[in-house]
Amino acid sequence: MSKLTSSHAWQALKAHHIAIEPVHMRQMFRDDPARFDKFSVQLGSLLFDYSKNRINAETIKLLTNLARQSGLQSQIERMFVGEKINFTEQRAALHTALRNRSGRAVYSNGKDVMPDVQRVLELIRGFSDKVRTGEHVGHTGKRITDIVNLGIGGSDLGPLMVCEALKPYSLPALHAHFVSNVDGTHLSETLKRLDAETTLFIISSKTFTTQETLTNARSARAWLVEKLGNEQAVAKHFAAVSTNLEATAKFGINPQNVFEFWDWVGGRYSLWSAIGLPIALFVGMDKFEELLGGGYAMDEHFRSAPLDKNIPVLLGLLGIWYNNFFGAASNAVLPYDQYMHRFAAYLQQLEMESNGKRVDRDGNTVDYNTGMVVWGEPGTNGQHAFFQLIHQGTRMIPADFHAPLHSYNPFEEHRAIPLANCFAQTEALMVGKTEEEARAELVAQGLQGEALEALLPHKVFPGNRPTNTFLFERLDPHTLGMLIAMYEHKVFVQSVVWNINPFDQWGVELGKQLAGKILPELRGTGIASPHDASTSGLIDYYHKHY
Ligand code: F6P
Repeated sequence: MSKLTSSHAWQALKAHHIAIEPVHMRQMFRDDPARFDKFSVQLGSLLFDYSKNRINAETIKLLTNLARQSGLQSQIERMFVGEKINFTEQRAALHTALRNRSGRAVYSNGKDVMPDVQRVLELIRGFSDKVRTGEHVGHTGKRITDIVNLGIGGSDLGPLMVCEALKPYSLPALHAHFVSNVDGTHLSETLKRLDAETTLFIISSKTFTTQETLTNARSARAWLVEKLGNEQAVAKHFAAVSTNLEATAKFGINPQNVFEFWDWVGGRYSLWSAIGLPIALFVGMDKFEELLGGGYAMDEHFRSAPLDKNIPVLLGLLGIWYNNFFGAASNAVLPYDQYMHRFAAYLQQLEMESNGKRVDRDGNTVDYNTGMVVWGEPGTNGQHAFFQLIHQGTRMIPADFHAPLHSYNPFEEHRAIPLANCFAQTEALMVGKTEEEARAELVAQGLQGEALEALLPHKVFPGNRPTNTFLFERLDPHTLGMLIAMYEHKVFVQSVVWNINPFDQWGVELGKQLAGKILPELRGTGIASPHDASTSGLIDYYHKHY
């Protein structure tokens, strides 16, 4: 048994789980009318209601004991002060410095990083203002109307999600496109709609070695040069964001259009850095700074609120409760706001790349589950697709519901429909429908005898399915910043309890290495290396049929 699973706090939770398991949340709400007040936290305009969870006051006490036992508070401080907590890469994880609005110094390797952070923010402001006002024009003197981000993973998902979420703040005359897939279709279908004279490409890559991004960048460059008939055009139509300034220079990017960030920013934590350049271009630097401000507000809360009133801590611990004690394997994220339609995809990388680990910090194989599968879609659409399984399937799927009180598009006929559905779903998941209730409904519909008995089991909902609800005034940059930082810290909390490193991602390397060997084999430019029978069979099939 590991130190964690044999610990007093873990064992206490195991025993407590046996006591809670048979209790229905209906009963919990009946027994305690103050449950909503007890199990909700307000931070600014954000309300976090976690009362529809299979918990009582004792559960929270035991979960926060587990967090304390893991040394969570000191680990939080270690992250904020720039210790090299990403020890397998010998790096700090200082994404919080990128949105540090306090004026406090933050040190990495003995150097205050804040002057560099401010300097790059000013560069982003200067460049984005110039593009947005039309001062920066293309090679032929035309105003930029389209920006195309070429990046993948953290250099795509974060800025893409934010640009979609903050669309109401964008300039109508400036369109943002994101090309990530190395399948030429993604680039080709995007370019079909664009005019080279008015297009600005941003090559976003922390390492500037990523095959997908550099392949897309080379093809985009060739397209631009072909369309504009001049290599010189690249200087006006390409910008780059990277930690690898040598590689951006080698690629031929005008140094004035290069925006730097640093190795202490993890890819999936980088939207707050220059990787956010497409955001600043799309919604303007002031709004980008408001996003940073929202992240900072959540940072301050995370750093200072007591554990049992701390939103990311509670969110992380509830995930552990279901994952490690109830055996839940996945977590749904269901925003009732169309602007958040890429939120779950963004969280997938954040959570699964961070906490998809099987050895602890000492290299021992863990004897408990770590990261959950994260998935989701806008809630109303999900209701007509996969909610059936959440309501009546055999698995417990804890779900996070997100909803703004106000829409940016207030068609009178649509008013309150998303919220009504959001509230109804969490209520239905919690209360369910008993056999007696289902029977009474069928009787009222005139059913009886064998027909009634045959239909009855299909109409029963077990309920007792846990949900969190996040309500906010509206999806503005500040609120979005809070929500993103909240999930970043949730991931951190879980990693601390699980004693794993959330800031590396060695698991993505093996596939990259093998693809590097197989590509020359497919192209006929390399020597065939030994493979298993399946992989060799697939390669042979390609050669026979291509
Ligand atoms: O392959 C995974 C990964 O390394 C992610 O962690 C990262 O966000 C993505 O690739 C893109 O990397 P880069 O920004 O260096 O191109």
